[in-house]
Amino acid sequence: MGPGDLSKALKGLPCMTNINLIRGLDCPDDAGVYKLTSKLAIIQTVDFFTPIVDDPYAFGLIAAANSMSDVYAMGGKPLTAMNIVCFPTGTLNISILNKILKGGAEKIMEAGALLVGGHTVDDKELKYGLSVTGIVHPDKMITNSGARPGDKLILTKPVGTGILGTAVKAGLVNKKTVKIMTESMATLNDKAAELMQEVGVNGCTDITGFGFIGHTAVMAKNSQAGITIFSDSIPLLPDAVDFAQKGVLPGGSHRNREFYSHLVTFANGIPQHMQDILFDAQTSGGLLISVAAGKAEKLLQKLHRAGVKDSTIIGEVTKEHKGRLVIV
Ligand code: CO
Ligand code: CO
Ligand code: CO
Repeated sequence: MGPGDLSKALKGLPCMTNINLIRGLDCPDDAGVYKLTSKLAIIQTVDFFTPIVDDPYAFGLIAAANSMSDVYAMGGKPLTAMNIVCFPTGTLNISILNKILKGGAEKIMEAGALLVGGHTVDDKELKYGLSVTGIVHPDKMITNSGARPGDKLILTKPVGTGILGTAVKAGLVNKKTVKIMTESMATLNDKAAELMQEVGVNGCTDITGFGFIGHTAVMAKNSQAGITIFSDSIPLLPDAVDFAQKGVLPGGSHRNREFYSHLVTFANGIPQHMQDILFDAQTSGGLLISVAAGKAEKLLQKLHRAGVKDSTIIGEVTKEHKGRLVIV
């Protein structure tokens, strides 16, 4: 389902507001946030999808890391998680599900969270993910509407998982690249979230299904600011350019282009394959962090020291072209 279908599906739903609901559907962010006390808010999010790599254990790791990412994007910590499973019991051996769930549990433990339950339905197509509850201090919640003109934008993981995932399904990707992309997708955004809180930042979102451009455009729109992206600075997964040049693109990327094109201006000379990469639907991508220019280098150094090695300054927030992206 693309972003256009999503807005149609939500059309006409009752708008539920409450003094304690500090992020809900009236102000969509990476996750819902509900204030319990003046010092504590819960963060709720859910995500599940079909396998993107062949190895079931690795798929479990990736799906769980992806599901917890929205908690980190809000500057929070995951506390508890529940498995969501669709499984074709008639055609697949249950040992496959066991491996997926082991991968998921491994990531939940790494995040310092607890698996507390789950639900499985029989379905023709395998799907797995988590429903996650996290916590954050309500005054320290980091939203996708806080980017301020003058901020620098830091991206913490390389882009290209949608294109590479499509190439993996066609059997075109070498083992080394599969390993690198799997590790990247299976990496938690926990360290980046912790360091954002330590340094103090203005805004954050994570890069997932709507692609780099989709999520960045939402940040620009919600922050009522412009964003300029330095396309040469975007960290990329190995071979992503190669497959993009060959036109290996997932369906979700076309839908992202249709929906978000009107919010983007590409400078002359940005090649077609780079545009495709920037629209590419991502799985378990990095955090996009908007931080005051004076703190950007410090945060970047801390990220690199903590092992979030692909972190790069990839753009800046502007007063000009409010609500739009300019890609140079
Ligand atoms: Co998100
Ligand atoms: Co999400
Ligand atoms: Co956020």
